Amino acid sequence: MFGEIIGYARKQNRITVEFEKNKVTIAVITPSIINFFAPIAGERRPSKAIEHLEEEPGALIVDFTGETLTIRTEQLIVKVTSDFRVNISDPSGTILSEDYRGTGTAFIRRGAGEGIAMAAEEGHKLASEEEKISYRLKKKLDPNTFFYGLGEKTGHLNKKGYHYKMWNTDDPSPHVESFETLYKSIPFLIALKDNQAFGYFFDTTFESQFDLGKENSDYYSFASAGGNLDYFFIYGPSVKEVVTGYTKLTGTTPLPQLWTLGYQQSRWAYAPEERLNEVADTFREKEIPCDVLHLDIDYMDGYRVFTWDRKKFPNPEELLKKLKAEGFKVVTIIDPGVKKDRGYAIYDQGLANHYFATDKDHLPYVNQVWPGDALFPDFSNGKVRAWWADNQKIMTDLGVSGIWNDMNEPASFKGPLPDDVQFNNDGIQTDHREIHNVYGHYMAKATYEGIKQATGKRPFVITRACYAGTQKYSTVWTGDNQSLWEHLRMALPMLMNLGLSGVAFCGTDVGGFGFDCTSELLSRWVQVGAFTPLFRNHSSIFTRDQEPWAFDEQTESINRKYIGLRYQLLPYLYDLLHDEETTGLPIMRPLLLDYQNDPATYEINDQILCGEAILVAPVVEQGAKTRLVYLPKGSRWIDFWTKESYEGGQYIVKAAPLDVCPIYIKEGSIIPLYPVQNYVGEKAIDQLTLDLYPPENGETSSYTHYQDDGESFEYRNGSYNLYEFSAQLSESSKELYVSINATHHGYEKSYDSFKLILNNTKATSVAQNDAPIPFKVMGNKTVLVVKEGELHIKL
Ligand code: GLC
Repeated sequence: MFGEIIGYARKQNRITVEFEKNKVTIAVITPSIINFFAPIAGERRPSKAIEHLEEEPGALIVDFTGETLTIRTEQLIVKVTSDFRVNISDPSGTILSEDYRGTGTAFIRRGAGEGIAMAAEEGHKLASEEEKISYRLKKKLDPNTFFYGLGEKTGHLNKKGYHYKMWNTDDPSPHVESFETLYKSIPFLIALKDNQAFGYFFDTTFESQFDLGKENSDYYSFASAGGNLDYFFIYGPSVKEVVTGYTKLTGTTPLPQLWTLGYQQSRWAYAPEERLNEVADTFREKEIPCDVLHLDIDYMDGYRVFTWDRKKFPNPEELLKKLKAEGFKVVTIIDPGVKKDRGYAIYDQGLANHYFATDKDHLPYVNQVWPGDALFPDFSNGKVRAWWADNQKIMTDLGVSGIWNDMNEPASFKGPLPDDVQFNNDGIQTDHREIHNVYGHYMAKATYEGIKQATGKRPFVITRACYAGTQKYSTVWTGDNQSLWEHLRMALPMLMNLGLSGVAFCGTDVGGFGFDCTSELLSRWVQVGAFTPLFRNHSSIFTRDQEPWAFDEQTESINRKYIGLRYQLLPYLYDLLHDEETTGLPIMRPLLLDYQNDPATYEINDQILCGEAILVAPVVEQGAKTRLVYLPKGSRWIDFWTKESYEGGQYIVKAAPLDVCPIYIKEGSIIPLYPVQNYVGEKAIDQLTLDLYPPENGETSSYTHYQDDGESFEYRNGSYNLYEFSAQLSESSKELYVSINATHHGYEKSYDSFKLILNNTKATSVAQNDAPIPFKVMGNKTVLVVKEGELHIKL
């Protein structure tokens, strides 16, 4: 496809390499991020994932020997040879990524003729290697490589040995390891080899495929069904740096409103309004915190989007006002399919303005979704996005607080959309093959912009389908899981990989969507949900109820306990999301993200870190009352419940009766806590609690806490406060020094005092600026209330 290198030209950080048969542009984006682009399909078009990219290439040297073109950045050495073969090494010359030069044979699927036909007849799904491929890149696979990322995929944390496709797919059958596609397409892969991490972002919206050593253990490959060859190599060497590099390209999730981190209750369907009110009242009566109630498709008039069924919801404005007074926000579902129905405003406007996708003869394309015959707004057209954005006001004016975008793969009931369905693509007409994977992305973007325009607040959007970069506009949930233990287990690696793929704000349907939940499953699932960024219990119509009280007293009290814990942790989670807006680092993390030096963490599927300080090892097996927990090397860990302390780098056995989720706090952590509230804003938070786990002798630990109004964009104009907390334990471990200082004061409200919980600490005296401070020793901890300043605690 390329041939020999003939020469090259350099324009600042862009090097155009002339091959016999094609040319390639290599752009140094930063010293660690390189873009490779070959116009094999046509002219370059703006990326749909990357919107505001600042290039900071640093110094680079280019050299051409006649055979090999070498580009040296401050972090990488890139060597390009004939046929556009690329090797990339670190500055010491260690090869990270090497194009595979062999021919490479695929394994054989044995069996032929009659046998295959019989298996198919019985209903077995037979694998096929049939591929719509326009190009494939093969990279040499070192046996010591681990793979992560790829967005929302079933299976395990490490993706090695599997093959995946990127083609947004709504498949309601139980999601299992053999699924190659699901609702989201994020063609971003992270490789970790000999403690060096690097990533590839293949920026194609066409169907793409990743073979991670399944076809042949000598190589891994990436293939696309169309478009240009356009990929980014992102160097670490830490996985954290790779994730930050990827989100430098595709964007981070903006800080959400604080209430979106509260507990959310959903069900298909809370209708009519009496049922919604009953659910709301039960939360308040039972004092189980809840911030958000979701309305699924039944609130609409005949499933017409942006309408209300006035029989079931006679006065939505009044209803939402009443619920707001009780501390509930309401989020409504909006699907893309617009009912084909003359006289229905959204349909009429869409038709008159040519806003719907068309068939190849330019007639509006019709398929079926919930409302029957429906048309699909062409979100790839800026004018349609602006119209859809304006429509959000119909909902927000009634008091709706967030929009849940569903079915936007797009899902269709009368077979998939044909390849030749036409889209405007912002003026460069194209077809479904190129737009399918960004359909949901553009819908989320329009929704985000519309809510922002209508309310001025930080928009809350949830989407099912997405592409790389959707995290800038929306949080995601992982679609229709089921009330199966296997799906609780699967949620952990799935959410961890989504987090590594830039989607920091994500969640699964707690309790499971399809099938009937059990009391034990809900009890264990809510323990995971409490640490999941998006914490929403949702279930399908006709399944058994799974609200926190739907089973028995024990299940209800476990729900209350973990939802309560979530509300205590709100300032910690909010701090994580505030940091994430800059770093792109996930909230729910695989252990390897923080413990890359400890290879024992590389394949842990069933434990998570919630930020740096909290390790959660949930029970995900029915009946299990103990579990093995791995505590990573490099930190000491304190059992959150018993306060026992453990050295890292070992497995321990933890007793975990049904109401106990094993949780460990990293030694030295300072965790900010709020009191439990029925909803965000119920209580004025004048006092912040600091749950402090002193560091090792002679060590100092610190924590930065962020505070703002929790809803507006004013923080971007400096309207926020920052606090620095630190703790130092003397060499003799006889003295603990704690400091609490406001370092930025831009938001009008601040804390009057701080309640310090000093775990595993028995104070004998406490002084602030030489004045004694009252304190209480309660068992193995010391509790005191202080103002800002320096504290001297004698032990
Ligand atoms: C889809 C969604 C699910 C929703 C249902 C009805 O299956 O994934 O969450 O409840 O549609 O709208």
